[in-house]
Amino acid sequence: MTKQYCKPPSRREIASLRARNDKLFYGSCMGYRNVIMDAVWLNVHLATMDQTATDGYGAIRDGAVATRDGRIAWVGRRADLPSGWRGAAMHDGGGAWLTPGLIDCHTHLVYAGNRANEFERRLNGATYEEIARSGGGILSSVLATRAASEDELVRQSAPRLRRLMAEGVTTVEIKSGYGLDTATELKMLRAARRLADECGVTVKTTLLGAHALPSEYAGRSDDYITLVCDEMLPAAAGLADAVDAFCEGIGFTPAQTERVFAAARRLGMRVKLHADQLSDLGGGALAARHGALSADHLEYASDTSLCAMAVAGTVAVLLPGAFYFLRETRLPPIAGLRQHNVPMAIATDCNPGTSPCTSLLLMLNMACTLFRLTPAEALAGVTRNAARALGMQNEAGRLAVGLRADFALWEISEPGELAYAFGANPCIGRVVAGEPIR
Ligand code: NIG
Ligand code: FE
Repeated sequence: MTKQYCKPPSRREIASLRARNDKLFYGSCMGYRNVIMDAVWLNVHLATMDQTATDGYGAIRDGAVATRDGRIAWVGRRADLPSGWRGAAMHDGGGAWLTPGLIDCHTHLVYAGNRANEFERRLNGATYEEIARSGGGILSSVLATRAASEDELVRQSAPRLRRLMAEGVTTVEIKSGYGLDTATELKMLRAARRLADECGVTVKTTLLGAHALPSEYAGRSDDYITLVCDEMLPAAAGLADAVDAFCEGIGFTPAQTERVFAAARRLGMRVKLHADQLSDLGGGALAARHGALSADHLEYASDTSLCAMAVAGTVAVLLPGAFYFLRETRLPPIAGLRQHNVPMAIATDCNPGTSPCTSLLLMLNMACTLFRLTPAEALAGVTRNAARALGMQNEAGRLAVGLRADFALWEISEPGELAYAFGANPCIGRVVAGEPIR
């Protein structure tokens, strides 16, 4: 099971590192002698998240990882570390577990204000849809977000991002969608990119202009979609890594979603979809038809949608925080996803309306307790499969040669503990591009 990590890097791995001008590493592969890596982590147990591993974690007890130029240059059993290798920095992990840095692949964490008052209304009997139709919900966050300056958005959002990072997160997807006009959507995307620099985390941005119908377009939803396609998307093309939409009775129709996706693809942008969250509109299949990176929520997704997603390689992003907070009772079709081999990712959906949550570890626990995922499936959902949901499967989400050296270190005795304990934070360190973060 661990063998493939104990071998020297393959020709392909060497070629890809060489392509990054890593001449010293390339030379080292020829002889393994007197090689100095940037850093080596020893006295650690590894959850490589190798998908061919039979234990679900790709666990290597008493492992070692070497890094060079921000990438993983070697990973395997410490006993197999080539003799003569040492790190300019040697790190003793003290028996901790080392996993890929966690990836939160679906958040709306840039927004202003909060919606605690709506939580109270819902507890008194109002539904999420009723609040949305009466002008609250997403639209109330739109008012607050339009009114906030970019600096203010960064200021209010940074603590949310830092709480995620404290639990081992090194990559976060952040959507716009509380602007619903071009200027504010761009302001949100810029704020998201600034957060990446200010907090030292990888951020993937997603334009969610088709999140809700702004009040100035009431009764003219097709005209608003024209604005999204003709103005917002081209303006956001350099600032957004992907395009999302909310395909739902209280969002946009499948036909309108198709228009947004067609416009995105004309601009060469990948798509993802809030699909089948409150009803089955065939969102999963629609996303798959457009080669979507992911279809997210999926509580009401049909078997036809799951089949189409499997064929297209579209990841199912499950969002137990929104399920819990909306007191949803319809479970996402986990058995069908497993049967069709659709990769499952888990995310916080951090947003002020349906999931004001900044704990990805809590989502691991809820994915297990509420959705009945195994702890190994849950951990794959915030590492390997989350990377795939962002199109980053060759960049992050596993401990493998050539991927970014983004790690989390955990004071646990086995990897299943990450999903088991809730309300605890056993993260004792993060490493970003090979650099330990204090
Ligand atoms: O993922 N469903 C649509 N969008 C968000 C909720 C946004 C909000 O209520 O502010 C979600 O659940
Ligand atoms: Fe969402």
